[in-house]
Amino acid sequence: MKQKTEFLAATGNAGKLEEINGVLRSIGYGCTGIGSLGIKLTDPEDGSSFYENAMIKAKEARRKTGRAVLADDSGLMVDALGGAPGVHTARYAGEGATDDENMDKLLAALGDLPAEERTARFVSCVVAILPDGRVVSASGVCEGWIGTQRHGEYGFGYDPIFYMRGGRTLSDLTDEKRYTCSHRARALRKLAFKLRGIRRMKYDNL
Ligand code: IMP
Repeated sequence: MKQKTEFLAATGNAGKLEEINGVLRSIGYGCTGIGSLGIKLTDPEDGSSFYENAMIKAKEARRKTGRAVLADDSGLMVDALGGAPGVHTARYAGEGATDDENMDKLLAALGDLPAEERTARFVSCVVAILPDGRVVSASGVCEGWIGTQRHGEYGFGYDPIFYMRGGRTLSDLTDEKRYTCSHRARALRKLAFKLRGIRRMKYDNL
């Protein structure tokens, strides 16, 4: 059997990298973080969508390495805030904001709204540039709501305040559970489905 593609993950976010690595390996693809090559990417601020930002990251990684690359751009969309923070999720509380500062700002923005008005979703868009330069993309969504306090010990970013059906936060989930339901895991599995389609067409060893 042919060896499947080893992707270079275009992210410097340790939480994302761990998840991308875990999901890709569980479906048979290899993955290494671009940081292991000593390469740092500029964090795009100018894209108007998750897709556009993921493309910017993937193209920069490709230009700098010439390898098969995979980039994710993701964020949180809160209904009561008209979809904010959206593409600004990472720097919601300002440039260089910590996860705690971002979560505090979001909790303050929602004040004491009841649970049914705190609905939100995490969105991930993944873009892969294949060895021959073809681009394949997919997106995934995880529905939930923003709680009023933090809970859980795993994960990263806004995980401790993102509650899902059943009343658990993303931060309560072990890797195994997270890989079945997170927005990024969903996007990566869709991407893998598309890659399998290309592989079946016998174009190459994708
Ligand atoms: P970006 O994709 O680098 O713009 O970063 C998106 C930001 O959204 C991250 O820095 C996190 O704060 C947040 N985020 C994205 N995905 C997740 C997740 O799976 N859990 C928690 N926070 C996330």
